[in-house]
Amino acid sequence: MANKEDHFKKVISHAKEYGYIFGSSEIYDGLSAVYDYAQNGVELKKNIREYWWRSMVYMHQNIVGIDAAILMHPTTWKASGHVDAFNDPLIDNKDSKKRYRADVLVEDYAEKLNQKAQKEITKAKKRFGDAFDEAQFVTTNPRVVKYLSQKEAALKRLAKSLENEDLADVKALIEELEIACPESGSRNWTDVKQFNLMFGTKLGASAESATDLYLRPETAQGIFVNFLNVQKTGRMKIPFGIAQTGKAFRNEIVARQFIFRMREFEQMEMQFFVRPGEEMKWYEYWKETRLKWHLSLGMGEENYRFHDHEKLAHYANAAADIEFNFPFGFKELEGIHSRTDFDLKAHEEYSGKKLQFFDPEMNESYVPYVVETSIGLDRMFLAIFSNSLKEETLEDGSSRVVLKIPSILAPVKAAVLPLVKKDGLPDIAKEIVDTLRWDFNVIYDEKDAVGRRYRRQDAAGTPFCITVDHQTLEDQTVTLRDRDSMEQVRIPIAEISTHLKDTISYQKWLS
Ligand code: GAP
Repeated sequence: MANKEDHFKKVISHAKEYGYIFGSSEIYDGLSAVYDYAQNGVELKKNIREYWWRSMVYMHQNIVGIDAAILMHPTTWKASGHVDAFNDPLIDNKDSKKRYRADVLVEDYAEKLNQKAQKEITKAKKRFGDAFDEAQFVTTNPRVVKYLSQKEAALKRLAKSLENEDLADVKALIEELEIACPESGSRNWTDVKQFNLMFGTKLGASAESATDLYLRPETAQGIFVNFLNVQKTGRMKIPFGIAQTGKAFRNEIVARQFIFRMREFEQMEMQFFVRPGEEMKWYEYWKETRLKWHLSLGMGEENYRFHDHEKLAHYANAAADIEFNFPFGFKELEGIHSRTDFDLKAHEEYSGKKLQFFDPEMNESYVPYVVETSIGLDRMFLAIFSNSLKEETLEDGSSRVVLKIPSILAPVKAAVLPLVKKDGLPDIAKEIVDTLRWDFNVIYDEKDAVGRRYRRQDAAGTPFCITVDHQTLEDQTVTLRDRDSMEQVRIPIAEISTHLKDTISYQKWLS
């Protein structure tokens, strides 16, 4: 792919063209930052959810799942701190009338300085070759030192002013750094204001009797309020976890980058309840375990990195992101948070109900501490889709577009193709489809020359093509074509199912 921006544009158009993602209510010109999953997208999304669920719930004896409602008692959000603290600092540009997150403006500025420093480092690396000492260069080259120290200073000041809720200083910082509106270049800014991200709605038949509710901004609270129900009915012993997948809603100020930041999205979260004092051990365990889950998909170790948080959310005593190398750079894909006993204690206080565990080994009751893993399903979708889309030049000089989605997640596992539409080949192909569809999502395709059908399936992300030809009539064998290597092998019809099961099994991928 030519460059990252270009690649990202191709990701978006490919997602539409191949039935993965459409803009929401497109016939009315769409709704900003809301998307619909199409016929292939819904399958990929379902498979990612299943891959997560199996690894979290089925592979851990002490983790169970729930599916709590999106609408919750409004006091939930008072207790969780979302009513008072789930805010983003926003700033408007008076000339362009564009709205931005003030912290993102400063972070983007810092990232530009970082990129300038990295450019100098790359240039020097080329110039000095093997003799290059990067650590020394970074601490002694005046330009690099200047860029990196300016970057650090800006981020430090931002963190401090946000911590102190000093929004006037955030504005002062934007002005001092001479940050301009990316759209218009203007530096004519309003004051910075806090903006609550929760969507409000109403419950009730008439305006007078209606109760104000919120659409949940995270699935986690549905787990906390059910902590005791699950612990008691499931006879769970600490440490144990509760997992959940489901929709969450945030009225994001800056919603861009396709499905990276949406207003309606899906989370896959797990709250792990532990003894107070043991949370750091489990925090490290879950950081490592979640990274392994990502690496199991084979999308390249170099595309992941940890980012430990300096500025912690109101509920956390440690937090890290697993960042992924998206087409627009490394960004948060998943969060691992040590949430202390903040949530359960707050719900005890607001509900007046005890949310404690009696630990028979310690012979005492306590409010457990919580380590959370939280990943956006849509973000995971984007990570997989953008990483899988490749444009390859083949040996004969022609090129192909291929979507190398890990086969365990691919929407359609195999396409069965009769070489020609006659001589009984379609009947055999349809029989194969009928046999395989009990275990796999497979399709039948007879339109166009077989080469074009292969290209179509490559671009749609189908890992295998099974071709029925005239030899099949003689010896009941077919060709099995692998999407990634384009290699074809001849196998008996009777072995297709076993072959697919061996290649596309959760055991193979997850272990
Ligand atoms: N319960 C903790 C929590 O919600 P978060 O860091 O706000 O933490 C967790 O969100 C994950 O949810 C993120 O790492 C991201 O993958 C996903 N996420 C958050 N906001 C999102 C949005 N507006 N659109 C898509 N995914 C989002």
